Amino acid sequence: MEKKKIIIDYEVIPLDALEGADADLVTQARKATYRSYAPYSHFMVGAAILLDSGVTVTGSNQENVAFPSGTCAERSACYYAHAQYPDAMFKKIAVAARGTDGEFVAEPVAPCGACRQALLEYEMLAKALVEVLLVGRDKVFRLPSVASTLPFAFTDFE
Ligand code: THU
Repeated sequence: MEKKKIIIDYEVIPLDALEGADADLVTQARKATYRSYAPYSHFMVGAAILLDSGVTVTGSNQENVAFPSGTCAERSACYYAHAQYPDAMFKKIAVAARGTDGEFVAEPVAPCGACRQALLEYEMLAKALVEVLLVGRDKVFRLPSVASTLPFAFTDFE
């Protein structure tokens, strides 16, 4: 029997210490929470994806009275990005959320399992790591890749 361990490296960065493209993307993700349609959960999520063309695409969670028909912010952003710009590769994604009190959540939010799998597809397509910025009220978790958010990902059926 062999024992193995998976270690995930990430950085914890004070929000006001972020600079450049990362700071811009976090601002875009936070703004996107205001375009969320979440009349059922009142949990407003925004995602912003920076493409290698320099374009930023945003998405927000879009809920539906038939609950499973709604879509998370990350999937609305990544599907929109690839539908609109199929030749552009993903560079980074930022995710932010506001809670039922309307305030940005204190602890960074992480994408659900289905969104991690969906995002991983575009990281594989890019053949390069896609940085992930998870945004809290005063801090950001910066992960080097989508793959690092999804150990034991399903990547092949051949
Ligand atoms: N949600 C997202 O949009 N992204 C996440 O990473 C987690 C959850 C949405 C789904 C639903 O509209 C609401 O947040 C509450 O779960």
